[in-house]
This record gives sequence, C-alpha cells and structure tokens, in this order.
Amino acid sequence: MADYDYHGRLARLLWERQLTGPLTKANRMAAEPTATASTNLRQRYLRAEEFVIGLIGVALLRLSAADGLSAADRTRLADPLLQQLQEFMLQMDGRPFSDHGWEVLDARAGYGRWAASYDLASAALVAVEEPSVLTLLDNLPAGLVVDAACGTGRYAAHLAARGRDIVGVDIAAEMLAIAEARVPTGRFVVGDLCALPLATASVAGAVCGLALAHVSDLESVARELARVVRAGGRAVLSVPHPLVVALLDFKAAIPPSQADERRAYIRQHAHAVSDYLDAFVGAGWWELRRCVEPQISSTAAAALRPGFAEIMQIALVGLPAVLVLELERCPKAMV
Ligand SMILES: C[S@@+](CC[C@H](N)C(=O)[O-])C[C@H]1O[C@@H](n2cnc3c(N)ncnc32)[C@H](O)[C@@H]1O
Repeated sequence: MADYDYHGRLARLLWERQLTGPLTKANRMAAEPTATASTNLRQRYLRAEEFVIGLIGVALLRLSAADGLSAADRTRLADPLLQQLQEFMLQMDGRPFSDHGWEVLDARAGYGRWAASYDLASAALVAVEEPSVLTLLDNLPAGLVVDAACGTGRYAAHLAARGRDIVGVDIAAEMLAIAEARVPTGRFVVGDLCALPLATASVAGAVCGLALAHVSDLESVARELARVVRAGGRAVLSVPHPLVVALLDFKAAIPPSQADERRAYIRQHAHAVSDYLDAFVGAGWWELRRCVEPQISSTAAAALRPGFAEIMQIALVGLPAVLVLELERCPKAMV
C-alpha cells in the first residue's frame, strides 16, 4: 500500500467526476436515499457495467492486499483498472438504470422452468466443484446411495456408472425426468430434502450437490439425512461458497429466453460456513471428516464475464468458489 496510492488516486477520480461531470444517477441516489423499485438493488437487474465497476473495486482491494508484488507490478496491474473504471463511469453518466425487476421463484418452480437448459448453464461452477466431490464419493461405503436434490442426475450417473445402486430425490419433477432418462438403472422419487421419502437407515451414503443454499432450515436436512443414512455411513455435501455468494451477489439465475426482459432467479439463503457446520456437526448427528474449498480457477473467472477477462482474473482467481464437506454418520446419534 505504501508504494502505490490507490485510495488517493481513486478519491481524486471520484472527486473530479463529481466536480466536472453531470449529476449521475449514483449521485442522485446518494442525495435521495428513498428506495424505489428501480433503485432497490435487491429487486432490479444489475447492469453489466455496474457489476464490473464492483469487480474493479474488488480487484483493487486484492492487489492492495497481495503479498510479493513490486511497486512496478502494482502500477502495471492497477493503472488499466483505474482507466477502465473511469471509462465505465463516463458511460454510466446520464443513462437510466435498468428498471427490469427480478422475478424470484421457489426451487420447485424455478428448477422446473430451468430443467431443459440447466446442464449447459451450470458448467463453469460445476467444473470447479466436481473434482473434489468425485474424490470424496470414492469413500462412500458399499450399499445404496441417495443423490439428494439430484437435479438432472449428475452424481447419480457417476455412481451408477461405477456399479453403485442409487436412488435420486428432487423437488422438481422436470429435473428428475432428465435424471431418469440419463440413469436408467436408478430409482427416482419426487421429494423434499426436509422430509426425504426414504425409510430410516435405508442407505449407506448420500451426496447433495449445490442444493443446500436453497433450504432455509438446514437442521431439518441434517436430521433427515442422518435418519436415512445408517450409522457409520457417509455424506458428501457441496454448496456455492458463502464468501463469493455474498461478494458477487451470486444468484441461481435462470438464463433468459430471447423474449424475456425480466430475469428470474431461485431464492437462496446467505448461510455462513458456521451455519452448515452447526446444523450438521453441532447437532451431534454427523462428524466432520474433510472440509475442502476449491478455488475459482482462471477458466471459471473468464467464463463469468468473457469480455472482461483481466479484471476477472485479478478480482476472482483464488477465492473459494465452493464449500465441500465430507461427513460421517455418528453411530450413537438418536434421530
Ligand atoms: C443447483 S441444482 C443441483 C442439482 C444436482 N445436485 C447437481 O449437483 O447437479 C439444485 C437442485 O436442488 C433441488 N432442490 C432445491 N431445494 C430442494 C428441496 N427442498 N428438496 C429437494 N430438492 C431441492 C432443485 O430442484 C435442483 O434440482
């Protein structure tokens, strides 16, 4: 920090815009803090420019915190970011903010709508998440495995291909229909993670990929999985990492069809890492075996906003993208 004055440069940049530029919507919002439909960031659709301005801020903070960079490196990396920030602010001047609101759907309706294109859209996150989960699935004991919130059957297909008996459960029938066609040897049942349609102690292991952030009551899921998995069995859980969910306002956003102006996302909860651990481990049903945090790779960062590869690299690469837990069902737990 001592060798490169980001804050001074940023402050000058903002001050100059305020003195010389037209009254921007951002300035008006600061002056009139009443939230309307279009100024409420939770309700309206964030413009690409607004998102990238935020990412430039994150990139500058990460450069500031990075160890081992020379003053020349910091200048080389920071100058184009500040330049782009200025260009974006000029572009935003006088332009109306988007008024298209988000439609917020529950999991059943949202994944019902998304099912047909889901596998294509989720590829970047899955590429980061999957290798860690697959490694841990090798530790599942012999016997039936439940793919809980199985979606289109990604993990059910992997396990079935290795000769495992599987049962898949999901709240969205449209996702299950795809899983059923993909894994003909599996059994698939519509059901809720909080009330699994399976008998007590009927499975040896469980996998639950990228679904728990959609559930408000984590303790119910922890108890239900502990009920159906027999003592000594294992569960592998993955969720988008709470840090990037908060930092990037990460949404389970359904890709719009061409005709749609209004975008939709599926409601999810801002659980912290400690919320997951409290629900599963704190209640005494599960013991933690492994906790893995796969990081955002260069490829995943580039996929997020293809036109802004350099900003994405500095802002995002190396942050934890996913939280993966491997748990063992405690032998003595009463469920
Ligand atoms: C992001 S997708 C992940 C699908 C799959 N597990 C995978 O990793 O490819 C989340 C899935 O969770 C399901 N889901 C969300 N809430 C659920 C609930 N309460 N009970 C059962 N399934 C649920 C959705 O229908 C959707 O198929």
